[in-house]
Amino acid sequence: MRAIVAESPEQLLWQEVPDVSPGPGEVLIKVAAVGVNRADVLQAAGKYPSPPGAPDTIGLEVAGVVADVGADVAKWSVGQDVCALLTGGGYAEYVAVPAGQVMPIPSGVDLVDAAGIPEVACTVWSNVVMTAHLSEGQLVLFHGGASGIGTHGIQVARALGARVAVTAGSSEKLDLCRELGAQITINYHDEDFVARLQEETDGAGANVILDIMGAAYLDRNIDALAIDGRLVIIGMQGGIKAELNIAKLVGKRAGVIGTTLRGRPVSGKSAIVEAVTASVWPMIADGRVRPIIGARLPIQRAADAHQLLVSGKVAGKVVLTVDS
Ligand SMILES: NC(=O)c1ccc[n+]([C@@H]2O[C@H](COP(=O)([O-])OP(=O)(O)OC[C@H]3O[C@@H](n4cnc5c(N)ncnc54)[C@H](OP(=O)(O)O)[C@@H]3O)[C@@H](O)[C@H]2O)c1
Repeated sequence: MRAIVAESPEQLLWQEVPDVSPGPGEVLIKVAAVGVNRADVLQAAGKYPSPPGAPDTIGLEVAGVVADVGADVAKWSVGQDVCALLTGGGYAEYVAVPAGQVMPIPSGVDLVDAAGIPEVACTVWSNVVMTAHLSEGQLVLFHGGASGIGTHGIQVARALGARVAVTAGSSEKLDLCRELGAQITINYHDEDFVARLQEETDGAGANVILDIMGAAYLDRNIDALAIDGRLVIIGMQGGIKAELNIAKLVGKRAGVIGTTLRGRPVSGKSAIVEAVTASVWPMIADGRVRPIIGARLPIQRAADAHQLLVSGKVAGKVVLTVDS
């Protein structure tokens, strides 16, 4: 089979590699498309190696067709269209994945576009709902509202009956966020998000913040939180070390949580996948949530796709298509 071999960040070569086959409890997927994530860009640059036991090949989510199943797999059968959350190995013609991380294609979604859903759906649901317990009427702030995570998060939060605030870096991106349902839209170049949120909420702040900036926003995120608020940090685009004012945190009875999806064991990923299929797939089927795909490129152009993601020129997800 062929897969992407990362010689360097700029040289992502589509070449022959050893075949993979499904082990017990695994499903072999013939890949039709793979979603691109920041983690893939970091891995290609040698900064985010695969966890122990995971394939070295880049790629955290795919959609395709079941090509084979290992022993003890009853739920999936050859020929079914599926998508899956991976720990690695997606930039390839075939990938083997634990059966619990496989999902049906959400109703009404094209097979290629489905490759851009597993990571955002599992990240948003596990953090915003399972961890931070966002509920109807509460306010959630998504930093990077026009990102893959943000565009999905806005729609899911609105479907739950929450209010949504976002930050983004351009008026075009804020327009997209509004179109998807965001009620408070803040250009982080021009406005202080803390002041704006205080103004919009009569000083109450956000009940939940999903943060991708890490150190650069820690102090201001605490300022922006409501009493009993939850700040969930999933990205470190603004650095990894910052000073935490514990007095402010204690005064708000607030929580700061850091999480990663990729490092969770199969059982943890499978529990999230099950919850997402039960709760988010119906939102997609009835049109309350739709995939926002900013670009589709052939897998041979993986390096261009990474460059596009890093450039910030694209809103929503980038997906790579794999020819059969
Ligand atoms: N921990 C986990 O399990 C997990 C899982 C998935 C993703 N993530 C992380 O979540 C983040 C988003 O992922 P993605 O795939 O959706 O990435 P993406 O589409 O590349 O989005 C990155 C976003 O960062 C925004 N951004 C840059 N500087 C900003 C600032 N100062 N303030 C607010 N936003 C800013 C950009 O917005 P503009 O273009 O508008 O500037 C862009 O939309 C990444 O950092 C990724 O590593 C973590």
